[in-house]
Parts: sequence; structure tokens; C-alpha cells
Amino acid sequence: MLVPGTASQSLTTILADMTGRSLTVPEYERFADGEQKVAVPGFDESQATIVAATPTDETFIELLQLQDAVREAGASLVTTVIPYLGYARQDEAFSRGEPVSARAVARAVSNATDRVILVTPHEASVAEFFAADTTIVDASERLSIPLPNDLVDPVFLAPDANATSLATETRDAYGRGVVDYFEKTRDYDTGAVTIEPTDTPVDGRDVVLVDDIIATGSTMAEAISALHNRGCKRAFAACVHPLLVKYARSRLAAAGATEVIGTDTIERSESMISAAPVIADVL
Ligand code: R5P
Repeated sequence: MLVPGTASQSLTTILADMTGRSLTVPEYERFADGEQKVAVPGFDESQATIVAATPTDETFIELLQLQDAVREAGASLVTTVIPYLGYARQDEAFSRGEPVSARAVARAVSNATDRVILVTPHEASVAEFFAADTTIVDASERLSIPLPNDLVDPVFLAPDANATSLATETRDAYGRGVVDYFEKTRDYDTGAVTIEPTDTPVDGRDVVLVDDIIATGSTMAEAISALHNRGCKRAFAACVHPLLVKYARSRLAAAGATEVIGTDTIERSESMISAAPVIADVL
């Protein structure tokens, strides 16, 4: 039986349709002191598959409660699908005294699950933080689907070297184009991003920027501006996780993004394509 978190309701519905599994509807309430509680009164099977992105602290607590609730309701086998894992980018202590937040989160999630499935985490090494058996799937191939068929001499560009494999997956799924990457540096005090242009000519060409996540939009906006300065035709901003915090969407528009494409690992209006098929493959 599939159990949705509040941040993954559309994705879980698609998974239910694709797999033929039943879906339970949790009940949610908040106490006067602000504490939240979710319950699964309709859960009546021995196997639970919880699908819950954790883009906020509230959704993380909700996930822990769902895990506990299905065990209380009799689940003997629990799979936890985390389409978007919050805190994944805090995967090391960047200065003395800092926590490795991704590890702390992973330990908590591991307590009440037999298996974890992650979608395109920031670094694959985050899987090592989970004590439970952990499978990683990548949804970047799905980003090719909303792209127009008439891309002109396309360049699939990663904003930094780490995202090159995602750009390659998207290009391969699209079927044509070259892959390259920018050199990115971020000032961690101000959050400002600097992009060093690639040698690949972009004049008159369509460019698809591919990254794992758009958060503040600094990376993509800077890259799009650099591309327009160099004469690109259209600039598409594609990511698996459209977190899009604060004014990110407006920044991308102001920079000249032709379209912003994301998956439903985070449910936003930019979630044009579902990650469900790559998750269903490993359920
Ligand atoms: C960083 O390495 C990631 O792949 C993303 O490029 C980054 O997290 C995006 O963040 P923002 O949208 O705030 O620039």
C-alpha cells in the first residue's frame, strides 16, 4: 500500500496508477502548541511504501511519523521513497563545529524502514549515511520530455562539472546535441555565484542547462545571463528538483530563461514531468 506525504501527493497518485498498488489517505492535524500529527487509519496491509519528499522541516517530521504509524498499523516491511531529500547538500562539516546534517537526517529515517529509495541526490555518497538498504535512481533522463523537438544545434550544459552526468543523461534521452559544463564558484558568505564560460560556441544555438536542483536560482540565472551575452538562441533551465525558493522563479525569468523544467520530486507549477517511471522501476 502506498502512503503519500503531503509534499508528494501527485507523484504518489501517478505511482499508484502505474503500479496498480492501493493508496491510503493519511489524516493530518496540528495541536494548539504547533506540533503536528499524521495518522494512517486506513492502512491495512503488511507492506508499506511511503512516498514523501522532505523539502521542509515539517515534511521531515511528517515522514518520521508516517514510518512509525504504518509500523503501529501492522506493516512488517516498510519502503521509504524520498523523492527529494532535504539537507542532502549539507553532506560534510564545512567548518569546525558544524553537523553533517545529511547524515543526521539519514540516521533518523533509517530507524523505521527496511529500504530507502532516493531520487537524484546531490551526491550519491549520501546513500552511505543510511543504515537501511538504499537505492538511488536518477530522473534526469525525464527532463528531455518537455523539450521542443526543434532545438537548434543544441548544447546540453551543466552549470558545474558535477552535473555533467545529468546533462549527458538528458542529452542521450533527447537524442542529439553536445554536452559541456561551466566552471562555477560560489562565495559561501554572500551566496553569489560566478560562472566561467565554456569553450563550446553557443551563438545562435539552443542551450539546455541541466542541474540536480534549482534552489535560489543563482546558479541558473548567472549561467543564463552568460549564455545570452554570448548570443545563444534559447536557454532552457532544467532540473530534477525545482525547489525554487523565494524569488528564484523571477530571477530566472529576468535572466531570460525560455522555460523552467522540473520533475515532481518537488511539486511546483514547473514540475512538468513525473519521476514516477524511474521510481516504479525499482519498487
Ligand atoms: C550545487 O552544486 C547544485 O548542483 C546546484 O547547482 C545548486 O545547489 C543550485 O543552487 P542555487 O539555485 O541556489 O544556485
